[in-house]
Amino acid sequence: MKFEFGTGISSYQVEGAYQEDDKLPSIWDTLSHSDGNISDKSNGDIATDFYHRYEEDIQLAKELGIQSFRFSFSMCRILDKNGRVNHKGIEFYQRVVDCILQYGMEPVVTLYHWDLPQFLQDKGGFTNPEIVDYYAKYVEVVAKEFKNKIKTWITFNEPQCFIGLGYSGREHAPKIHASLKEMILATHHVLLCHAKAYQILKGINPKCVVTFVNTFSINIPLVEDRELEDYCYNHTFESPKNENEFYNTVIYTDPLYFGRYPADYLALAASQDVTFSKEDMMTIKLAKPDRIDINIYSGNYFAKDENGNISMQNLVKEEEITSFDWLRARPKVLYYGPKYFYQRYHLPIVISENGVCYDDQLEDDKVHDPNRSKFILEYFSQLKRAIKDGIDVIGYYYWSLEDNFEWAYGYSKRFGLVYIDYEHGLKRVKKDSFYTYKNLITETRNG
Ligand code: NOJ
Repeated sequence: MKFEFGTGISSYQVEGAYQEDDKLPSIWDTLSHSDGNISDKSNGDIATDFYHRYEEDIQLAKELGIQSFRFSFSMCRILDKNGRVNHKGIEFYQRVVDCILQYGMEPVVTLYHWDLPQFLQDKGGFTNPEIVDYYAKYVEVVAKEFKNKIKTWITFNEPQCFIGLGYSGREHAPKIHASLKEMILATHHVLLCHAKAYQILKGINPKCVVTFVNTFSINIPLVEDRELEDYCYNHTFESPKNENEFYNTVIYTDPLYFGRYPADYLALAASQDVTFSKEDMMTIKLAKPDRIDINIYSGNYFAKDENGNISMQNLVKEEEITSFDWLRARPKVLYYGPKYFYQRYHLPIVISENGVCYDDQLEDDKVHDPNRSKFILEYFSQLKRAIKDGIDVIGYYYWSLEDNFEWAYGYSKRFGLVYIDYEHGLKRVKKDSFYTYKNLITETRNG
């Protein structure tokens, strides 16, 4: 089976070296350095020290047998406040990219994984339209530098979190309380940044793949039933009604793949005196991503009562519990999720992230994590079911290659296939699930 397997990491979560080589401070440096924002009071100053140990990690990824190595560039390392290029930052990413290529994998680069330079946030972050030019400048620099080496670019990762949560005061940087109007503008500016990046990247290398990563919590019919499934599908693509509902997908995916916002969202924008110019909408329409990348972890069950009324079910089965309350191990999300997105947009689908955190323990240099192995196998079998039903899924990336800084939860949540021993020099230890994923890759690709 020709299928792309990968793993993911992101700059702030692993790099560390937070002041090295003239890197600018990011909004995550600011948030983690002020009290009360990170549950274990940690920060990403050192993280897993990927900045210095990238070769060791890339080698581990190679051993897994993955084809695609997903990581992110930090804008804070590439440009200074005046838009001048920081060559030391470029050189670091050149070393990383060369190493990935040497080991025979494809580097897949996320251009924005949440670590905005703080000085841009001080000017309003994504609510300020000036961000579009700065982002475009950054993209132009890296697109030229890496023209012959990077084939796949992800312009943004999960605006549902960095706008939806970060601009409504919930746990993510910049943790501000934006108004509804500002949320709408920020969303629009993210799309314009994507569109400009698309033009630049394709202009420099017409053959490159440009994509955008969304996420969503998938609505799962508790029993298989057409009406229930239709309800779950429709509910997935509902627009927000207020500023607290911007953990939303359709306000990104409809403009990205259809070139227009949903009608009820346009009405919401109009209620805030926001209208979108024809020119902006045309720019967005001309930047349709080449494929659908979606991060899928968990979802909610829906069922019908005896009167036919449909509602969300609050049941949680024992085997669904992980170390995060938002993450219930519900493999069917990898069946229904791709199905809904394919049904609506008809483009090839990549599961750009899927993974789980458990309280892993290191014992005698080993980490036995049978629940993660079970998670991977059961989720993947649901994905195969989707493929069998004709859904064009072309890739799967496990999150994450290694344990790392899990945002507002610091190092207390472990998603990795590789355990990081934070107490003992950041030693890397392959968990049992590392071998489960490795075997799955070998079997699937040989099968
Ligand atoms: C999504 C994000 O892209 C990633 O940074 C995060 O660590 C995982 N989900 C797990 O929460």
